[in-house]
Amino acid sequence: MSNAQQFEYWNGEAGKRWAQDDDTMARLLRPVTEALLDHAQLAGCGNALDVGCGGGSQSLMLAQRLGEDAQVTGVDISAPMLAVAQAKADSLPAGCAALRFVQADASDHAFEPGSFDLVFSRFGVMFFDDPPAAFANIHGAMQPGANLAFCCWQGIKNNTWAWIPLQAALQHLPPPEPMPPNAPGPFAFGDADRVTGILEGAGFSEISMQPLLTRLRFSSAPTLGEAVRDLARIGPLSRLLAQHPDAPTERVFAAVETALQSWFQEGALELPVAIWLVTATRP
Ligand SMILES: C[S@@+](CC[C@H](N)C(=O)[O-])C[C@H]1O[C@@H](n2cnc3c(N)ncnc32)[C@H](O)[C@@H]1O
Repeated sequence: MSNAQQFEYWNGEAGKRWAQDDDTMARLLRPVTEALLDHAQLAGCGNALDVGCGGGSQSLMLAQRLGEDAQVTGVDISAPMLAVAQAKADSLPAGCAALRFVQADASDHAFEPGSFDLVFSRFGVMFFDDPPAAFANIHGAMQPGANLAFCCWQGIKNNTWAWIPLQAALQHLPPPEPMPPNAPGPFAFGDADRVTGILEGAGFSEISMQPLLTRLRFSSAPTLGEAVRDLARIGPLSRLLAQHPDAPTERVFAAVETALQSWFQEGALELPVAIWLVTATRP
């Protein structure tokens, strides 16, 4: 998908669904956000940029960690998700950094040069159609010595939560059009060597990619059938279903249920995830 197609995608049905599901996503991804915030160097940070901030739940968590003398700016292309984020800025808890949100394409937005001392992102930097140019733009917005900290998914086959349901669904649906390797999308940054190369090329140093391998609770629904329907709202399964509005949904869901049975226990669907915690510095 080009940046223009990403704009359509995140402002269309997908963006609206993410906006509706903001509380659910915030709960699901809280442990990852905590891990990223613990891993990032936040000391002394006063002016942070959150790239691809979406509904802003991680922007708010960052603002709470930085405290009231700091400022956090969230940037995103999605109007529905930014509306949800803005509501958080409008009712900011005491002791938080100031929070503001901007609708812009982070890959080419004219940020004030050298203005941010931290660039942060939770799963918001894998969608650029020209990652080297986008990271060069982001690098230009950072002060010398500023830190970059983001998380991204490892390869799809390492991510049981995405791969197993997709394979199960494909028992009843035609496979999606083959995509070029590393095409923009959730799993575009799976290859650590490629990501390191992109960041080096953009001028970053001290690049580190630490694996985070854990399980996340994708649903707390009482039955596996309901949990699978929750899971089908996100990730590659949701994209596949959106491409096939006439899909034999009941058969697809039954296949996914069979595939995920062993991860559903006592009203919790907890699935393995494989993530990179990426940090780097602008020299
Ligand atoms: C997977 S969502 C993550 C949202 C949020 N960070 C979270 O964790 O809940 C990816 C986000 O990146 C945004 N995005 C995609 N391309 C972008 C771009 N070029 N500039 C800014 N945001 C972008 C999307 O609109 C979407 O909100």
